[in-house]
Amino acid sequence: MRILSGIQPSGALHLGNYFGMMKPSIELQHKGEAFYFIADYHSMTTLRDPAERRQNTLDVALDFLACGLDTQKTVFFRQSDVPEVTELTWLLGSVTPMGLLERCTSYKDKVSKGISPDFGLFAYPVLMAADILIYDSNLVPVGQDQKQHLEVTRDIAIKFNEIYGETFVIPEPQIREDVAKVPGTDGDKMSKSYNNTIEIFGDEKVLRKKVMSIKMDSRTPQEPKPDAGQNLAVQLMKLVAPPESASDYESRLRAGGLGYGDLKKALFDAYWSYFSAARAKRAELAANLDFVNQVLADGAAKARAKAKEVLARAKKASGLT
Ligand code: ADP
Ligand code: TRP
Repeated sequence: MRILSGIQPSGALHLGNYFGMMKPSIELQHKGEAFYFIADYHSMTTLRDPAERRQNTLDVALDFLACGLDTQKTVFFRQSDVPEVTELTWLLGSVTPMGLLERCTSYKDKVSKGISPDFGLFAYPVLMAADILIYDSNLVPVGQDQKQHLEVTRDIAIKFNEIYGETFVIPEPQIREDVAKVPGTDGDKMSKSYNNTIEIFGDEKVLRKKVMSIKMDSRTPQEPKPDAGQNLAVQLMKLVAPPESASDYESRLRAGGLGYGDLKKALFDAYWSYFSAARAKRAELAANLDFVNQVLADGAAKARAKAKEVLARAKKASGLT
């Protein structure tokens, strides 16, 4: 079974990325042949600073490796090291109905946030379909917000197969309901574009401040809080603290007597220790960039071999060769 996922180098990775996509991907890597990549072509639709793209790409590589990607087993690479994917994008784009792309909420959201609606942004889901189909992927672990893109991918694959004969494997998304939508410090979905993130890695002081800024209501510490389960800090605590400890804080909050400040301090400590091994690993990797570059180069070679095979199949089916 091929498991595949990608993440854009569009900013520092946060707890939403970690629990929604990275952790599930890392847990799946021994269940089949995993291909994970850094979607640098996709980042061109929103990020225009070359130096920033280079830096972010390296950061995502370090973050992912530090969080437990198994370099012996998993194929880890940069999207643009497999240029065949752009050629397949054209073949797929030529069978993609406009209406399918016009319905994409991610595109509409980005435009409503002020991103200019250029061709790349509109065609984003077609490139994503090519990413998935070019490796004969069976399973794609992603967060909830990518579900529609997976449906588009399946529709495009089915359409191509109908027109040109069985060519592509139809992939399935894997969305973990428990972490489908990690909340940010303001209660909305945690996202780089909402300025409400808690990063996986970074400066301790800055991150402590972000945790302490999590939005709370104005009830006094003494007041019992029957809605403790919906409290933002409790929800995040459930992700990073041992289960008994998280439910202990939840019951103390429910009963009354626990102040929000103390709750957030406990959350910060739990979060900081949750990533402590990964933090050490990241520092080690950052001091050994030759190793990181070698992992990406080896990954690209393996991914490219598979991509060439599937692209050749699609070209033959469609009469290009
Ligand atoms: P962002 O919204 O911060 O720009 P991306 O769109 O780059 O994040 O998402 C990368 C991956 O992380 C996707 O698989 C996405 O579904 C997942 N993801 C992002 N934010 C969250 C979140 N708050 N909860 C769960 N998964 C998330
Ligand atoms: N669109 C995805 C995101 O923003 C990133 C991505 C690009 C991806 N290509 C992919 C995810 C292929 C899964 C499979 O998160």
